[in-house]
Amino acid sequence: MIITGVDYYPEQWDRSMWEDDIRRMSDLGIRTVRIGEFAWCRLEPEEGQFEFGWLDDAIELIERYGMKVILGTPTNCPPLWMFQNYPDTLQCDRDGTRTKTGIRGHRCMNSPTFRKYAGRIVALMAERYADNGIYAWQIDNELESNHCTCEYCAASFRKWLQDKYGTLDHLNRAWGNVVWSGEVSDWNQINAFMTAAVNRADWFNPGYMLDYERFCAASTTDYVHFQCDIIRKYIPSAVITTNSCFGSNLPDFHQEFEPLDVASYDNYPPAVIPANPEKFYSNAFALDFVRGFKQKNFWVLEQLGGPMGCWSPITPQLEPGMLEGYAMQAVAHGADLLSFFRWRTASTGAEMFCYGLLDHDNQPNSRTEELKHLIHRLELVPNLSETSLTSKVAMLYSADQEFSFKTQAQSEGFAYWTQMRLFHEACMNLGVNIDIIPQSHSYEDYEVVIVPTQFVTDKDSVKRLEQFAQQGGTVIVTNRSGVKDEHGNCIINESLPTLFRKMCGCYINGTDAIGPRYQRIRSLHGGVFSITSWCDMLVCETAEPMAVYLDRFYAGTPALSVNQFGKGTVYYVGTVGEKALYRSLLLEVFHQRKMNVIENLPDGVESTVRSAEDMQFRFFFNNTLEGKSFFAEGKRVSMQALEMKVLTRSGQWI
Ligand code: GAL
Repeated sequence: MIITGVDYYPEQWDRSMWEDDIRRMSDLGIRTVRIGEFAWCRLEPEEGQFEFGWLDDAIELIERYGMKVILGTPTNCPPLWMFQNYPDTLQCDRDGTRTKTGIRGHRCMNSPTFRKYAGRIVALMAERYADNGIYAWQIDNELESNHCTCEYCAASFRKWLQDKYGTLDHLNRAWGNVVWSGEVSDWNQINAFMTAAVNRADWFNPGYMLDYERFCAASTTDYVHFQCDIIRKYIPSAVITTNSCFGSNLPDFHQEFEPLDVASYDNYPPAVIPANPEKFYSNAFALDFVRGFKQKNFWVLEQLGGPMGCWSPITPQLEPGMLEGYAMQAVAHGADLLSFFRWRTASTGAEMFCYGLLDHDNQPNSRTEELKHLIHRLELVPNLSETSLTSKVAMLYSADQEFSFKTQAQSEGFAYWTQMRLFHEACMNLGVNIDIIPQSHSYEDYEVVIVPTQFVTDKDSVKRLEQFAQQGGTVIVTNRSGVKDEHGNCIINESLPTLFRKMCGCYINGTDAIGPRYQRIRSLHGGVFSITSWCDMLVCETAEPMAVYLDRFYAGTPALSVNQFGKGTVYYVGTVGEKALYRSLLLEVFHQRKMNVIENLPDGVESTVRSAEDMQFRFFFNNTLEGKSFFAEGKRVSMQALEMKVLTRSGQWI
């Protein structure tokens, strides 16, 4: 059964309200209640004085009404006494100053003092609730990559570098520190990344920045291990997760989730749908990306429950069908649990206008009605949770690309994520499942592997791709691949795409970072497409050109190519196109591989399949605000705005 839950903050409400809240959740069919993740000041109001009684009562009440608890460790928000008594527990900003208190998430994950107190509260909770049938544990909240600049973080960074490079000579060579007289003669000359407001990350050595980002991500992973180990010491069978989000400092999610049992995500798809379909991107990418963290079904620990209005003006009211449609979209991409944010809208604090399911008036409303409908619908298909998504297409993700582009944008508007999303969206619109997996993961069982922008190049990874293609696989490589080595320095004395040249059967003899301009290419298979951001001018060796540029001094030069490599095929995409380009390219690839596609899904409609040996559910989701009608699976399908339809193998609609 797909589980529906809510997020609840008992510590924010008068006790007299608890039972009524909890009874109504239970009446609605809610099965899990997620609590605790910001409640440290009520659990340890003074240093060493613990008050767990209220949490015992809240858990007992939730369980009495037949629901299960997802318990958060409260370490995102230490109590103010800690910051007052031990200022070294506070994060330091980019300019090296201590963050001011009054917000959240401002603890230093590497501070030994913070670890001491965080470790103690987590241990006490795990010990106390070991036998309570807690459904799952959530570590902290929305962990970002650790970007603290305090002395502990700087020291840990130096240690991390010493372990990696051994000597300063190795480090100086790896980073190319001779530039701007940056050679390091004492480890203590290396600091965490700090900038004055006038400086920017792209003034710093990219070699240093790449390792710094790797270190920050590793710190977050280490922090996850730290909490997991404590919980598992008391509850070896605990199910542990953490709720991911895509903030400005992305960690290395695959590494971060390695010690965890299940991937979780805070799913806030856009309440306002962009009017321009070319700009429009479905939230599906984020969901598939999260499924890839552990390459299996995942949970949503915060699902959009109302208009957002936390740190910005309030967004418009959810469109009719949006709450249910977006929730079902998460299920279509592998979510097995949906916990809605939040039961009641806060009446105090910074998020008092970030709406939950219930408004301040505490009355049933259209959103709670939709939730009721959703729960009823999911109850009709109890075995849906026994299914998962299997895919013939994989897209390789590597955190190094994200880290590198963050420091060195290549062209205005050019982003790693844009490239991934363009390919992904085309798969969705062709009804083809796609997995987004870490580059290091094995992909031998897939048919098509998409490798967007391997800017930082890993030799072993290229070898594996060559083998995969040689043995019959299809590989798609894109522009800005093969540019840098593993240290983040440019590969020299070889034409781009350097290590990828052999498999792609082409090289690049000129590039043009066109930024936000639009130009055109003509496909040799028919069709003119608009392109933007970047143009590689290809010279085909063993490859055949597939499309040529139509504008400027390189008109007529190949932009896309295809190469037979061993038993397989390798495509090179030297530019960034409009959405239709990716659809047309992938359609050709999927036809060649004789894969099932749904060719006539309208723009904005996506389709995925969850299946098990004896079951299949095909999901159709209309991401737009217009009704859509089309033929698929031999049937006419009509969909309202934001509607999700599910077709079973026996042809029944759910
Ligand atoms: C999430 C966060 C929640 C709440 C929510 C508001 O990012 O985890 O605690 O702030 O956003 O939308």
